Amino acid sequence: MIQNIGEIANRFASNHSVIYDLGCATGISTLSIARAVTAQHCRVIGIDNSSAMLEQCNRFVKAYQHSTPIELIEADILNFQLAPCSVVVMNFTLQFLPPDSRETILQRIHEALLPGGVLILSEKVKGERTDHDELLIHLHHNFKRDNGYSDLEISQKRTALENVMLLDTQSQHFARFDAAGFDSYTEWYRCFNFSSMLAFKA
Ligand SMILES: C[S@@+](CC[C@H](N)C(=O)[O-])C[C@H]1O[C@@H](n2cnc3c(N)ncnc32)[C@H](O)[C@@H]1O
Repeated sequence: MIQNIGEIANRFASNHSVIYDLGCATGISTLSIARAVTAQHCRVIGIDNSSAMLEQCNRFVKAYQHSTPIELIEADILNFQLAPCSVVVMNFTLQFLPPDSRETILQRIHEALLPGGVLILSEKVKGERTDHDELLIHLHHNFKRDNGYSDLEISQKRTALENVMLLDTQSQHFARFDAAGFDSYTEWYRCFNFSSMLAFKA
């Protein structure tokens, strides 16, 4: 997913434009974008409200080569004034924002995007049906177990995120894209209950 976010950003980045990575955390997606984009005179701006995340991000940015410059800003996405931009990435960040703020932030992203721009939105999604949701969670937990996580670690993470990460279904995301003014949208990646979507501004 991370590698393809860079590829998709490269496809939509226009010369002299800004590319935002909102909730950039340690900069994994930020670096993927900055390494992949070939458009001229672009800037990738990573924003996060955690100084600890940005410190680590800064170390990675210094350690890895990238052709497009990266700027890091410590700010709350909810209060940040976006400049005109060709690409906005939100990789597992919207799910941590208060549900009643999500439509407004998408509207502001849509407003800031240049014509032909794209929002790349990755989210853990809630299943439309409880039985499907439970199956996908079960498959994801099995995947974690196969990759060395203990049952205790799996249940602790689940409990830690329970009231913090309030998930939407795929159809809620699509309805929000419509409400925010996007012209079209599609899912481009899915694994268990992890989805990545593209929303286009014509
Ligand atoms: C799951 S992480 C994102 C992972 C990252 N995008 C990646 O691809 O590796 C979510 C990030 O969103 C940040 N975040 C949450 N709410 C925020 C807000 N209101 N403003 C800015 N950053 C926020 C958190 O600090 C955290 O670093």
